[in-house]
Amino acid sequence: MKVDVLLGLQWGDEGKGKLVDVLTPNYDVIARFQGGPNAGHTLEFNNIKHITHNIPSGVFREKSINVIGNGVVLDPKTFKEEIDQVRALNVDLKGRLMVSLKAHLIMPTHKILDAASEAAKGKTKIGSTLRGIGPTYMDKTGRNGLRVGDIVSNRFKDKYDFLTQKHLDILKQYDFEFNLSEFEEGWFEGIECIKDYQLVNSEYEVNNFLKAGKSVLAEGAQGTMLDIDFGSYPFVTSSNTICAGACAGLGIAPNMIGDVFGVFKAYSTRVGGGPFPTEQDNDTGEKLREYGAEYGATTGRPRRCGWLDLSVLKYSIMLNGVTQLMMTKADVLSHFDTIKVCTGYNIDGKYTVQLPYDIEKDIEPVYSDIKSWRSEIKNLRTKKELPDELLEYIKFIENHVGVPVSIVGVGPDREQLIRLN
Ligand code: GDP
Ligand code: IMO
Ligand code: MG
Repeated sequence: MKVDVLLGLQWGDEGKGKLVDVLTPNYDVIARFQGGPNAGHTLEFNNIKHITHNIPSGVFREKSINVIGNGVVLDPKTFKEEIDQVRALNVDLKGRLMVSLKAHLIMPTHKILDAASEAAKGKTKIGSTLRGIGPTYMDKTGRNGLRVGDIVSNRFKDKYDFLTQKHLDILKQYDFEFNLSEFEEGWFEGIECIKDYQLVNSEYEVNNFLKAGKSVLAEGAQGTMLDIDFGSYPFVTSSNTICAGACAGLGIAPNMIGDVFGVFKAYSTRVGGGPFPTEQDNDTGEKLREYGAEYGATTGRPRRCGWLDLSVLKYSIMLNGVTQLMMTKADVLSHFDTIKVCTGYNIDGKYTVQLPYDIEKDIEPVYSDIKSWRSEIKNLRTKKELPDELLEYIKFIENHVGVPVSIVGVGPDREQLIRLN
């Protein structure tokens, strides 16, 4: 068997969580491969709205095994909170949640460093979720980090104290006030909670699952435009969000990748700072935010909204080897007469379909206008019920990017989607 990968093609929040939940019945194993609790993946079913941060979005399907891979950075405190939340919904993950011994731990001081660094940046801040992601990956690549495997060592507290002191010394360089004990609250309880689950060399586990004929879906976090190498640097996250990140973040060889499901919204959003060529900082953007309920699942911040950008989509498809597209939130566009789609850019008087190195430059998007369907589609469930204009919108995208759309979302609930093939 091969590993299928589901990931975001824009700036995150494309609806990955919902689609993982929808696809989980087709898989034995769901595995997160990068990111941490900066992710907020929303699942809606049976009038329940649930948001996953550290744990995979397959947890609500009883038969699924869920894996937190080595590429993830794990916050013990939010991990425990999530475990408690799913337990309150009668979901017991004992025996079906594995955590990689090699996953790095987000420490209380990583969160303080994140906040201090952002505060020092002033207007040029990234708009981080302040979950400690950047500092934790810095310690990983700087070869200082604490890993899940360390928590069972009798030297764990010494290692923790040593690294905490190092962080406190760095924090002296910032004019930033904090109370360490507030940040430490719940952290050690979280460590004890992690010990209740299977702490494993997940690269062996995942490869053994594949050898045994079990199917695996890798769940991406963030989106391709937030990738540390290919996103709108420095306004990115600190991990490889692209498909290659699944190989490194789970220990699977590139030739073990099967289908790559690229999720995108029928328009675009971004939360936090950084360039966004098709942003509509106007009534159109507000309308998209209102009808799309575009507020961050992790931080509650209003998301910046704009039209679909096919240059971004093509770039993301190229980087990830996307085999199937999944478009969410088509229902939001029911509220518009005309939909604009960006097909390329004018930069310094020249037309290009490529994203330039410096996307903070003055980029003028070139738009095509498409007639909207102007009708409610939330209750539709089959392709043949879809309005012609929506099918034309999808055809336009497919023709432009050369990859088929297999699923269209028409609402947040797990039932609200249409399979096109
Ligand atoms: P993720 O981070 O990619 O999992 O996405 P988020 O959960 O952060 O944001 C997506 C939001 O859109 C959530 O509130 C979902 O419930 C919602 N959503 C997902 N698919 C659809 C859809 O097809 N239509 C509508 N209206 N909402 C959707
Ligand atoms: P999901 O998985 C949307 C953004 C932040 C900020 C930048 C860096 O729900 O799609 P970080 O906390 O990583 O240092 O923030 O990345 N960001 C996200 N935006 N969805 C996410 O995750 C995000 N995770 C991080 O807003 O601009
Ligand atoms: Mg999200």
